[in-house]
Amino acid sequence: MNNDIERVIYSREDIVQREAELARQICEDYRDKKPIIVSVLTGAILFSIDMLERMDIYAQMDFVDISSFEGGVKSTGKIKLIHDLKNDIKGRNVLVMEDIVDSGRTLKFLMELLADRGAKSIKVCSLLDKPEGRMVDIRADYVGFNVPNEFLVGYGLDYKGFYRNLPYVGVLKPSVYEN
Ligand code: IMP
Ligand code: MG
Repeated sequence: MNNDIERVIYSREDIVQREAELARQICEDYRDKKPIIVSVLTGAILFSIDMLERMDIYAQMDFVDISSFEGGVKSTGKIKLIHDLKNDIKGRNVLVMEDIVDSGRTLKFLMELLADRGAKSIKVCSLLDKPEGRMVDIRADYVGFNVPNEFLVGYGLDYKGFYRNLPYVGVLKPSVYEN
């Protein structure tokens, strides 16, 4: 699996260090807010769990699965809700955890859904942000790293469901998906 990676962009050590900083900031901001942490499956799961265990605040966890990629390297633009929340989020402070914001369409879809359901506040924490990919006006409130407009895998990010378990974020060799 490692042989399919062109180069490592963020090592596990880089990620863990940045997570500690983000978690500290979020703890301060959410101290008395009892947030619901909404993790976007499947990509954000490693990041969400890492973050949760670093946050010494009262927080609940919930999951949504939203798909826009359908296994390729380009967003299809069609967004589907595949798995819904368990919790009623009316009046709650919601913090969305994402792996990466690219076009922004997934997040826009999710934020509108959460707003429709009456969330008191909605913020977004994303491990990675690809500002060059943006097609809609959406920004994350907490960002681990800004990344270049290349297809990345690892630490939750996948290509056709694989590579999520790499302990770093890296650039996938184009030869892997060009054939
Ligand atoms: P958006 O709707 O275009 O912002 O896409 C966001 C979703 O696409 C993320 O939640 C990821 O699952 C996926 N995605 C975007 N860029 C990459 C990438 O470089 N590698 C793997 N998945 C990506
Ligand atoms: Mg995703």
